[in-house]
Amino acid sequence: MSDNKVQIFDTTLRDGEQVPGCKLNTEQKVIIAEQLDILGVDVIEAGFPVSSPGDFRSVEEISKIVKNATVCGLTRSVENDIKVAAEALKYAKKPRIHTGIGTSDSHITHKFKSNREAIIERAVKAVSLAKTYVEDVEFYAEDAGRTDNDYLARICEAAIKAGATVLNIPDTTGYCLPSEYGAKIKYLKENVKGIEKAILSCHCHNDLGLATANSIEGVINGARQIECTINGIGERAGNTALEEVVMILKQHPYLNLDTNINTQMLYGISQLVSDRMGIYTQPNKAIVGANAFAHSSGIHQDGVIKNRETYEIIDPKDVGVTASAIVLTARSGRAALAYRAKNVGYELTKLQLDEVYKNFLDFADKKKEVDDNDIHQIIESCKLYKEIISA
Ligand code: KIV
Ligand code: ZN
Repeated sequence: MSDNKVQIFDTTLRDGEQVPGCKLNTEQKVIIAEQLDILGVDVIEAGFPVSSPGDFRSVEEISKIVKNATVCGLTRSVENDIKVAAEALKYAKKPRIHTGIGTSDSHITHKFKSNREAIIERAVKAVSLAKTYVEDVEFYAEDAGRTDNDYLARICEAAIKAGATVLNIPDTTGYCLPSEYGAKIKYLKENVKGIEKAILSCHCHNDLGLATANSIEGVINGARQIECTINGIGERAGNTALEEVVMILKQHPYLNLDTNINTQMLYGISQLVSDRMGIYTQPNKAIVGANAFAHSSGIHQDGVIKNRETYEIIDPKDVGVTASAIVLTARSGRAALAYRAKNVGYELTKLQLDEVYKNFLDFADKKKEVDDNDIHQIIESCKLYKEIISA
C-alpha cells in the first residue's frame, strides 16, 4: 500500500445499522455490500456475528459475494465471539476479525469493574486467539478518545505484539476536538514500539458534529484508515460520513492523501442506503443532500449561471449528481428566471423578461418554490404572451 493511500473502512452495515428502528435484513445488506464493493471501499464491516443469527447470516452471505474488499466481523474480547466471527467469515476472500475492549478509566472501572493491567491481558488474549483464525486482525480500544495517551500506547503496543495489523482508535463518545484527536494519533505514531507494522485507524462519532474533522485530522497526523458510514448514519448523532471524508481528500490534493473510491457513485449509494434504511437524508447534508448543489438566492444564481465555480467547490457530476439546480423562489433574480424559462422553451427578450419577472414575483410570494409548470402558467398570464410564443 502506498503511503499516501487512505483505506476506507465502511461500517454502514454494523455501526451504521445500530440506528434505532433501521434493522436491515440479510437480502438488503447483501445489496448494499455489493454496491460498497463496486464503490471501492477497502473494508466492509458486515456485522457483529455473535449478536444474532440474522447478523451471523448476513456476515456469511456478504463474505460469499464480496469480490474485492476485505470483509470484517466485530467481536468483543470474548472467546466465543471470536470463534463465531471466524465461522461467519469463512467464505471471505479477505477476512478480518475486529476485536477489542474499552480502555478509558470510565469503561475499565464501571463497565468491566477491572483494572488497567487485566484489560491489557484480555486484549492480548483476544488478538492472539483471533490471529489463530485469520491473518488480518484489527484491535479497537473503545473510548480511546477519553483514554489517557500513555496507557493507550501501552495497550496498542501489546496488541501489535500479539499480532494486530490495524489499531482502531475510536472516539466512541464523539468528545474530542480535532486538535486533541490529531495529537493522540501523532502520540501513538511516535510512542508505540512496532507501530510501523500496523495501520492506525480513525473511528469518530459525531456527538459534537466533529466526526469528519476529527477523522481528517487523524489522517493528517499519520492514520491511514478511516471508519465511516454512508450518509454518516449511526447511533446517536452518527459516525463519520464516508462521502465527506472522501471528497475532502479529493478536493484538497495538496494533502497528498487519496482513496480508492469511485466518487461518481456517491449520490446513488447515498440514496440506496437512505431508501433501504428508511432514513431521510437532511436536505442540507454535505455532498449528498438534496440542496447540496441547489442555488436559490439571486446573487448566487447569477454567479453560478455565469460560471459554476463562483459558488461551487465540487462539480456535481463528480459525486453522481447530474447538474447544479437553480431553484426559483421569491429571492431569485432575472438571470435565474431567464435561465429556467429557456430550459422550458422560452427565449425572453429584456422587455419580455421585465414583464414576466413582475408576474413571477407575485406568484413566488405566494408559493415557496416555482416549478416548470408554474413558469408556463406565469408566462401565459403575461400581456406579451403571444409575442413570446411566436418568437
Ligand atoms: O465506537 C466504537 O467504539 C465502536 C467500536 C466497537 C469499534 O464502534
Ligand atoms: Zn462506533
